[in-house]
Amino acid sequence: SVTTSPEVSPYQIVEKDLLACYREIKADLACDLPELVELAQYYFTAHGKAFRPMVVLLMAEICAKDSGGVVSTVAAKQRRVAVITEMIHTASLIHDDVIDEADTRRNQPSLHKVWGEKKAILAGDYILSVASRELAKLRNPDVIICLAQVIEDLVKGELMQIGSKDGTASSRLTAYLSKTYYKTASLLANSCKAVAMLSNCSEEAVERCYQFGKTLGMAFQLVDDKLDFVATADDMGKPTAVDLTLGLATAPVLFAAEKDLSLDALIQRRFSKAGDVSIARQAVIEHKGVDQTHNLAGKYCQEATKCLSSFQSSREKDALLKVIDMVLTRSK
Ligand code: FPP
Ligand code: MG
Ligand code: MG
Repeated sequence: SVTTSPEVSPYQIVEKDLLACYREIKADLACDLPELVELAQYYFTAHGKAFRPMVVLLMAEICAKDSGGVVSTVAAKQRRVAVITEMIHTASLIHDDVIDEADTRRNQPSLHKVWGEKKAILAGDYILSVASRELAKLRNPDVIICLAQVIEDLVKGELMQIGSKDGTASSRLTAYLSKTYYKTASLLANSCKAVAMLSNCSEEAVERCYQFGKTLGMAFQLVDDKLDFVATADDMGKPTAVDLTLGLATAPVLFAAEKDLSLDALIQRRFSKAGDVSIARQAVIEHKGVDQTHNLAGKYCQEATKCLSSFQSSREKDALLKVIDMVLTRSK
């Protein structure tokens, strides 16, 4: 396990920059159609955990130091990556809540519940368009390619999830992990890579940043899928215990299915028969699917820790080590 100084609070270290990010997002989303502005700002006013921008900002500082910089300030362009990342993420959540028919997000009614699905889709599209425009303003083709890839990956991940019943029992965990990369890890991987590229790090350091974001993202989603089985909706600010009812087989049930081959039929029919969901829940308990998911997340966290090892010591590095720990141990 990771040893960090207890006083390090990752959010605190980048608090000023995080506030600046949200001010910038608000300004970026302004336009001459008040209704569109209201829709687009709805999920941002609730302020999510700001997990992704926090990671990106910390990584930016680490990279700035690594590339020989002495001043510990995040360059404006790197902060823009944090902003754009949060916009892409939020746009995808608005669409996701329509697809998942989720009633709440960030402890308030989901956007489509308030304004309807048509406007929710358009609000997501609008945020994505603003993110694209702001990305272009960075005038850095490699960074543009990197974050455009994220958008492609989000779509691929979501589509793979819709088709997740396909395939054979033995290939399902692999398919799940690749879907998880697309839907969650790509965003952290490529945004960490983007800030590294903007700070003129060595190619090797850029790759370590990418791998850090990737492994942290994999762990994050594995824990999210674990929490769907064990956390309450109140804790999460969004519905839980929904994956099975949505027909989705995530890591806990896929691990159980390795032991109990009869689960395969349930996965294939997306837990649609009466009793399927509770049979699957029972199997997850019996075969310790939640623990196995946690352990796999732990392995990704170890990888993430390794990726940071050759960066020089700093409070930002300590903070990211702490983030790794938080990802694994969070209960909401
Ligand atoms: C949340 O997952 C959803 C995602 C991480 C990605 C959703 C992507 C799309 C809808 C594709 C469209 C993309 C863009 C950029 C507009 P979840 O449903 O497992 O998590 P939750 O419990 O937070 O809802
Ligand atoms: Mg979803
Ligand atoms: Mg969802």
